[in-house]
Formats: sequence, structure tokens, C-alpha cells
Amino acid sequence: MFLCPQPKKLELKGGYFRFPVGSQFPVSEKITPFLSQKESYRIEIDAQGVHIEAADEEGLYYAHTTLEQLQSNYRGCLPYIYIYDEPSFSYRGFMIDPCRHFFSVEQIKRMIDAAAYFKFNKFHFHLTDDQGIRMELESYPELTAIGSVRYGSHFGKAHDDEEPYGGFYTKAQLREIVEYCKERFIEVIPEFDIPGHTSAVLAAMPQLSCTGEEIKPQTTAGIFPDVLCVGKEETYRMIYAVLDEICEIFPSEYIHIGGDEVPKAHWNDCPLCQEKRESLGLKTMEELHGAFSQEISAYLKARGRRAICWNEAIRGGNVENDNITVAWWMDKTDASLRWLNNGGPVIIESFSPYYVDYPHGMHSLRDIYMNNPKKLRGLTDLGKNSIVGIESPVWTEYITTFEKLTQMCFPRWLAVAETAWNVDEEKDFPKFLKSTKFFCEILRERGITPAPEGDWNILPHTRLGQTLGFVKNNITKKMIVDFFKGANK
Ligand code: ACM
Ligand code: ZN
Repeated sequence: MFLCPQPKKLELKGGYFRFPVGSQFPVSEKITPFLSQKESYRIEIDAQGVHIEAADEEGLYYAHTTLEQLQSNYRGCLPYIYIYDEPSFSYRGFMIDPCRHFFSVEQIKRMIDAAAYFKFNKFHFHLTDDQGIRMELESYPELTAIGSVRYGSHFGKAHDDEEPYGGFYTKAQLREIVEYCKERFIEVIPEFDIPGHTSAVLAAMPQLSCTGEEIKPQTTAGIFPDVLCVGKEETYRMIYAVLDEICEIFPSEYIHIGGDEVPKAHWNDCPLCQEKRESLGLKTMEELHGAFSQEISAYLKARGRRAICWNEAIRGGNVENDNITVAWWMDKTDASLRWLNNGGPVIIESFSPYYVDYPHGMHSLRDIYMNNPKKLRGLTDLGKNSIVGIESPVWTEYITTFEKLTQMCFPRWLAVAETAWNVDEEKDFPKFLKSTKFFCEILRERGITPAPEGDWNILPHTRLGQTLGFVKNNITKKMIVDFFKGANK
């Protein structure tokens, strides 16, 4: 029998509850105080039918999801069974970037449905970036009018043209997505990526950069030097107005305020940024970045929300963890590890292996399945307990179609779901692989095209060989070495 993620306890009792195919079987359900673990549930199937008990509404929902998966294994019967289940992590996230390439509400909903089926509960919606702002904003309408359109898409061979490219979700559509997620016990976490990755913001409001120079939304991938000037009052007025609008649309506990990849060159040359740094008694621009994130997070805290920041925001070492959760994607310093070991909350979304926009050959299904974020080197017990969960982002510079999007995410998001729900359980990759094949069929029926099976665990040197034009599939390291020796003769 195939279930994903695996329930914590499962006992087959022998025998089957039979019912006519297509008819409903009896289900009794109740929320019980005897289950103390949040989101936990119990299912018993016996001669009387299906009995569900859950700790809360979430648990009831997950029990029904498990039952739905169970049903897809059988026809006209269900096995007598006992299941007890609870998640390892309270944060089980997936992220979609509609900025580099845009996806319709209908497509986003299909992704949400698939994620809900594997018990994800956080949808991080990366709504702003250099290449486009993808939400309707009324406080500064120019942010959407100008920031949502770029003049060309130069992301390499995947998409090289001079066509205007735009799109954004209206507030009504965003509310529709929030509602859709709520019905599936998924929290939508919007991201307003500041103070870097803001070319599209500055295209609309160039007065908010340190230089004031006119720029356009970017048409290529990259890290761009034009960031928000943090020494100007007007910058904060804009940020707070946008956050107010975001809070109005999204009722989430978390609001993501970005903070990744912020070049400091313009801040270094800017008298207003220097003045702000000095007025706060700070020595470095990294500390200024930290103070900025702290200031914005305090604004959110006053509104009952919690900020998520990419790990660069804490590099200065001057950020408090009382209202910031860190999204650890790549940290060449020891800041994120220190943060965790000091009890600061962290979502693990390490580039390797959780970035699924990278080829299957780099971040394979097996790599993702086998990865245990709690086994990070240097983690103390407090650090382990400070991991609130994991998240898998899909960035879309090189993903131009919905089919490609689904092929990058699936089946790898099944491995993410498995770890998010069962981080401490023993791994059994062959068993997981069988269940993955089973669920790929179901995904196809639901309008999701997973990557072809031959791609799932392709080895890095095979991928490199394919890039070099080898036609065979079983490419060995020796073949690659011989290729380069030949090339150098
Ligand atoms: C990131 O990948 N820049 C968070
Ligand atoms: Zn400045």
C-alpha cells in the first residue's frame, strides 16, 4: 500500500471493509482532547466503517487526505487498519516565484492541490523581484503599473526575446488564492523582497534608490546593484504602505520580507545611508541591513505578524530573534548556525538539495529524500529544536511553461513532503521510489506532469555528459575524463 508521507504508525488488522464501488462508506469523525499533538489524527477501519479522531481541524483534514490516498490503493474495499499520525515539523513549505515567469491563478491552484495532497501547509508566494512585481497595489499604483512589465526576457536559451512580458494578480485573485489555501489548511506567506531585488520597485519609484537614477525592471537573471536607499524616510513610507496592503489581503502569521543578495556598494557611497548607519551607532553596512530588517519586523510585530527573512539579513550579527524567523538557503558565514544554536527559529531551505529549479542531476530525488536537516554539522540540541520546518523553492528564470514547472517540482516535492512530515524516521529509498511511481500516476490525472522517471536520479556526470552531447545514458566519470583529455590533445 502506498501513502506519502508515510503515517507514523500503521497496523493492518486483517480483513476488509467492503462497499459498492463508487458509493460512500460510513465515516465517523471527532476532535478529541486525548490527542495532544497539533495536527495529529487517528484512523481506525473495522467492520463498522471508518472512524477518525483528530487533535484539531488540521488533523481531521490530514486524516481525510490519508483516507483519500488509501482509497486510491483499493477498489470497493478498505483494509481493516489502525493509523496514528503526526507531523515532525509545523512548517512544511513550498515556494513559487511568479516574477521571472508568471503562472495563472488556475495553474497556481493546481500546484496548491498537489501540495495539499502531500500535506504541505505553507505556500510561500514570492511576489516581487527585479523582473516584476506580481501583485496589485493601490497605495502606489505605479508599483504595479510600471513594475509588473519588463521589456524582454533574456534568461538564456530558455527564453530570449524582446517582447514585453507582464502580469500580476489582482487583489481579488490573491484573496481567492488565500481562500483556496485556507480550505486546504495551507497558509499563504507573501513575500515583499526588500531592500534588494528591487529593480522593479525602483523602475516605478527611482527616487527610492541611493542614486535616483532611472532603471527598468530587469530582463536577465542576476543580482543587481540598485537597492532601496535605507536612509530615506520615503522608502519606509512606501514599505509600510505596501505591507499594510499585504496584511489586508493575507491573514498569515508570517510575512516574508526578503533580504537576500543585497549589494551594499550604493549604500557605501550614499550620505543618507551612512548617516543612518552612524545614527544607529553601527559600524558596518551588514549591521545596517540587520537593523533595517529589525525595524521592518517591528512594524509587522505591532500588527501581530511575524517576519521571515532570508539568511543574509542576520549576517551583521545584530538582529534579535524575537520576531524574525530565518529562511536559511545559503550561508557562507556561521551566522545562521549561530542563530539556530541560540534558539532562533529557522526554516531550512538549503539551496542544495531543496532548490528544485536546479536540474534533477544536481538535486536528485534521492538527495532530497535522504537529506536530514537535523543532521547539519555543528547543530546543538537547541539548534535542532529550533528548526521549525523545511521549504522547497522553485525559481523560474528558466521555467517558461507550466509543464516545465510541474516537471521540476514533481516528484521531488514528494521527497520534501516526506522529510517535512517524518524527519526522524528511518529512510527506505526503494520503498519511497515505488510509492513515488504510484503517486506520479495520480498526479498526471490531476493535471500535473512529473519529470520522466529517467530524470529522477540521474547522476551529475551523466547530466554533464548529456550537456556535452553524449548520446548514451550510462555515462561514467571515466568517459567524461577521457572526453576532456581528448579535447586537450
Ligand atoms: C535566493 O535564492 N536568492 C533566496
Ligand atoms: Zn542610500
